[in-house]
Amino acid sequence: MKLAVVIASTRPGRVGLPVGNWFYQHAQAHGKFEVALIDLAEINLPLFNEAAHPRLQQYEHEHTKDWSRRIDAVDALVFVTPEYNHSVPASLLNALDYLNKEWAYKPVGFVTYGGVSAGTRALQVAKQVVVGLRMMPIPESVNIPFVAQLIAPDGTFQAGKIQTDAADLMLDELYRWTEALQTLRQPVAAAV
Ligand SMILES: Cc1cc2nc3c(=O)[nH]c(=O)nc-3n(C[C@H](O)[C@H](O)[C@H](O)COP(=O)(O)O)c2cc1C
Repeated sequence: MKLAVVIASTRPGRVGLPVGNWFYQHAQAHGKFEVALIDLAEINLPLFNEAAHPRLQQYEHEHTKDWSRRIDAVDALVFVTPEYNHSVPASLLNALDYLNKEWAYKPVGFVTYGGVSAGTRALQVAKQVVVGLRMMPIPESVNIPFVAQLIAPDGTFQAGKIQTDAADLMLDELYRWTEALQTLRQPVAAAV
């Protein structure tokens, strides 16, 4: 089973990069998934600029075709996202809006972070959106409060037992859902 770990934050100096790198390495060590790291800052999608509804897959732009192929190739996703204004960053919503069938029947977990809220308000917003795309958001998540306090001077994220235990539980459950939903998933990239 292939898992994409998607770093949602794109701003210079983002905490999302060390948090995402930590989770990516943790997911690899967990061992059940083949893991790919996707950084939305590198993907660099413009604001949604396709004419046709994404469910038609009549993609005009190379960036959309590339994005479609990347998401089509994976069985499950984990979004690593901050909380911006009690919601998710526009970069994540934009990346979701670009596609439709490519997301369907894929289970999704969340690593969220922020201040006192630990990104949980962002998580609730994201759940509503991904359900509309027929993804399955699982209940287990990793929620990191006061994330800046866990960034070491060398810039790495220093996970504690709370985060590593939560990550293991989420990955175990995500794998169960990934297997269970396999019969519903079909490759859709042939259309692009
Ligand atoms: C535009 C913006 C909005 C923010 N809104 C929230 C918020 O609603 N709740 C929160 O806990 N933190 C909020 N923060 C603080 C972020 O949690 C903190 O800056 C975090 O490092 C952002 O993640 P990033 O560094 O990966 O971009 C906000 C930060 C920015 C830049």
